[in-house]
Amino acid sequence: MSRQTLTATPTAAGPGPGPAAPRMLTGDRPTGRLHLGHYVGSLANRVRLHKQYESFFIVADLHMLTTKNSGQDIAAVHRNATGMVLDSLAVGLDPAHSVFFLQSAVPEVAEINLLLSSLVTVPRLERIPSLKEMARDAGKQEMPFALLGYPVLQAADILAVKATAVPVGRDNAAHVEVAREIARRFNRRYRPVFPVPALIHGDVPSLPGTDGQAKMSKSLGNAIYLADPPQEVRRKVMRMYTDPARTGPGVPGTVEGNPVFAYHAAFNDRPAEVADLAERYRAGKVGDAEVKEKLADAINRFLAPIQERRAAFAADEGLVADLIVTGTERTRREVQRTVADMRDAMGLTAAFTEFQRHARRPHAPDVAPHAPDVAPDAPDVSDRCEVDQHRT
Ligand code: TRP
Repeated sequence: MSRQTLTATPTAAGPGPGPAAPRMLTGDRPTGRLHLGHYVGSLANRVRLHKQYESFFIVADLHMLTTKNSGQDIAAVHRNATGMVLDSLAVGLDPAHSVFFLQSAVPEVAEINLLLSSLVTVPRLERIPSLKEMARDAGKQEMPFALLGYPVLQAADILAVKATAVPVGRDNAAHVEVAREIARRFNRRYRPVFPVPALIHGDVPSLPGTDGQAKMSKSLGNAIYLADPPQEVRRKVMRMYTDPARTGPGVPGTVEGNPVFAYHAAFNDRPAEVADLAERYRAGKVGDAEVKEKLADAINRFLAPIQERRAAFAADEGLVADLIVTGTERTRREVQRTVADMRDAMGLTAAFTEFQRHARRPHAPDVAPHAPDVAPDAPDVSDRCEVDQHRT
């Protein structure tokens, strides 16, 4: 895959409002490497879907701030975002069909967040269980204001690019529901500006952690990473939580709800082997060690081509930077158009336009206020006319 195809493609897919190509948005906070839970819960779905849509992938660093906002956390965004994009390419996102962007480099998202925040109530947000869990996991005694607004910011991301589809894992389903409500409310209160985005679920139930906890997560230390080398995978698998009632290889075990078998079902490409292991496990005719050895082999077979592709993309120096910079510029243009639509639909530009019309100093009545990229100290009319060209 050459650099040329990359730079050519994102600009080639022109803008144009209206019921254009279906558009998808999804993404992650840049808090670390991606793991098998991400793969099952969202990455596989993204790979499957992304060519059917105009696909945007957000690196949600503003969302990260809702629970992690130290200077150190923020300084790690570049490295983490790079790793995430490489992981995404490695599992099969085609860079020519994917627009990657950095949320904080599209400041208009914050303006949209503010405009949408009048369309949702505090009790509505307080009823979302995932936010309380996030607050607890982050060790917060009290709910941060920004964390309560997490789904509104997510709605801003989604509506900013007028996404029609949002594939997310379970944790995020309630947030997308809020985005749908806000879109409908905006359209009804002002005028139809937003498609109501469809929620697309992953088809696999979420993957448990290696410790048997319901969820694989970095903060719980129970994850197998896409970039884990084979020995590391083996080490983690051999220590996995399994049927606790099974005291020896001769004791019949339970397959249902057993994380070792959940992983076999998700990653082992040899169904006959899995069926055989499950049968012998139930009958007390196989040791846990063998079941785990075969799982480690299966996961390593699954990860080998992913890691090979990752290394190839990583060796293409500057690739990720090109993708993020081009994708962010492209996204920002879209989002600036959306902000203008919103302000117009709300009538929010009217008051200032009226003031401009009656102002006694020289002015340009044909220049809409709040044009994107207006320098705060824009001194004269000629500057503002130049700015206006960006809006076409
Ligand atoms: N909330 C997502 C997460 O759990 C990240 C995210 C931010 C997102 N904005 C989004 C996902 C928009 C889908 C659509 O990390």
